[in-house]
Amino acid sequence: MSLLVSHIQKQYNHQKAVDDISFEVHPGEIVGFLGPNGAGKSTTLKMIAGILAPDAGKITLNNAAVQIDSIDAKKIIGYLPESNALYKDLYVKEYLQFLGAVHHLKNIPDRIKEVIDLLQLGSMQHKKIGELSKGYQQRVGIAAAILHQPALLLLDEPTSGLDPNQLIEIREVIKHLSKHSMILFSSHILQEVTAVCNRVLVMHQGKLVANEPIASLLKPRSNNLHILFEEEISHLTEHLSKLSLDIVSIDKHLLVVKTAEGKDVKKIVMQFALDMGLNIERLHTEEASLEEIFKLLTH
Ligand SMILES: Nc1ncnc2c1ncn2[C@@H]1O[C@H](COP(=O)(O)OP(=O)(O)OP(=O)(O)O)[C@@H](O)[C@H]1O
Ligand SMILES: [Mg+2]
Repeated sequence: MSLLVSHIQKQYNHQKAVDDISFEVHPGEIVGFLGPNGAGKSTTLKMIAGILAPDAGKITLNNAAVQIDSIDAKKIIGYLPESNALYKDLYVKEYLQFLGAVHHLKNIPDRIKEVIDLLQLGSMQHKKIGELSKGYQQRVGIAAAILHQPALLLLDEPTSGLDPNQLIEIREVIKHLSKHSMILFSSHILQEVTAVCNRVLVMHQGKLVANEPIASLLKPRSNNLHILFEEEISHLTEHLSKLSLDIVSIDKHLLVVKTAEGKDVKKIVMQFALDMGLNIERLHTEEASLEEIFKLLTH
C-alpha cells in the first residue's frame, strides 16, 4: 500500500495553485509538508483526499486511482482539513459514534474508547464540541480522522492552535499512528518537522522544491569547521596565522576554519592543540538550520 502522486496540477482562474508535482509515500513513513502561505499544500492534500479533482495528473493509493468522492478511497484515507469543520452542537462521544456508524465500524464503543484514550479526550467526551477550547477541538478533529484506522492519514496543520505541552503530546500521537498509517502532514513549525518526520516535501508557488530525508536536508551545507577550545585562544592569533589554515574567525574559545579539499584540517588543528597544551571541547562541521534551508528553497 503506497501513495503515488504523479504530475498533478490545479489551476484556480489564472493561478496555478499546484504546478506539476510528483512524489510517493510508503508505509511506515511520516512525511512533512512544508511551504510558505499559499504554496499549494492544502490544495494538494485536498486532491489526495479525493475532495478536489486535479486538472491533470494521477493519484493512486494501493494501486487504485483516487477518484473524486470515491467511497473506496474514503475507507482507507483519514483527513483532517485545515479548517477542521466539526459539528459544534454534538457531544464529543456522540460525534465519534456518528462517524463510527458512517464508517460501518464493527466494534464502535471499543474503538471510540481507544481514540479517546490516545488523544486524551476522556474528560471532554461528554462536552459539546463547540464548548471545547481550540486545542481540544483540534484533538477531536484528529480523533475523527483516525477512527476508521486509515492506511493513509492526511493532516493539514494538525498542531495549529496547540500550546507547547499539547504540541509535544500530539507529536507523540503522530509517531504512534505511523505504526498503522502512512502520514502526510503539513506544518509551518519547522522544529516539528525535524522532531517527527522521516522525510520532508517543500512546496513553493505550486512547485515541489525539495523531497528529501530530513537528515540529508540538514546535512552540512557549508564547509566551515568549528573548533571549540576549553581555553581562550584569542591571544594565539599569531601562532594560528602561521599554520596552513584558512581562518574564518577567532573569537574567545572558538576557532572557525575553512575545510579545504586534500588538506587534513582536523589533524593540523589537533597538532596545534597538542603543541600549545590546549584541550578541544568540541569540533564539528557547520550545519545549516532548517530555517536557513527553508529560506533558501522558498526565496
Ligand atoms: N478555492 C480557491 N479559489 C481560488 N484560489 C484558491 C482557492 N483555494 C486556494 N487558492 C489559491 O491557491 C493557492 C494555494 O493555496 P493553498 O491553500 O493550497 O496554500 P497552502 O500552502 O495550504 O497555504 P497556507 O500555508 O496558507 O495554508 C493560493 O494562492 C490560494 O489563494
Ligand atoms: Mg494550507
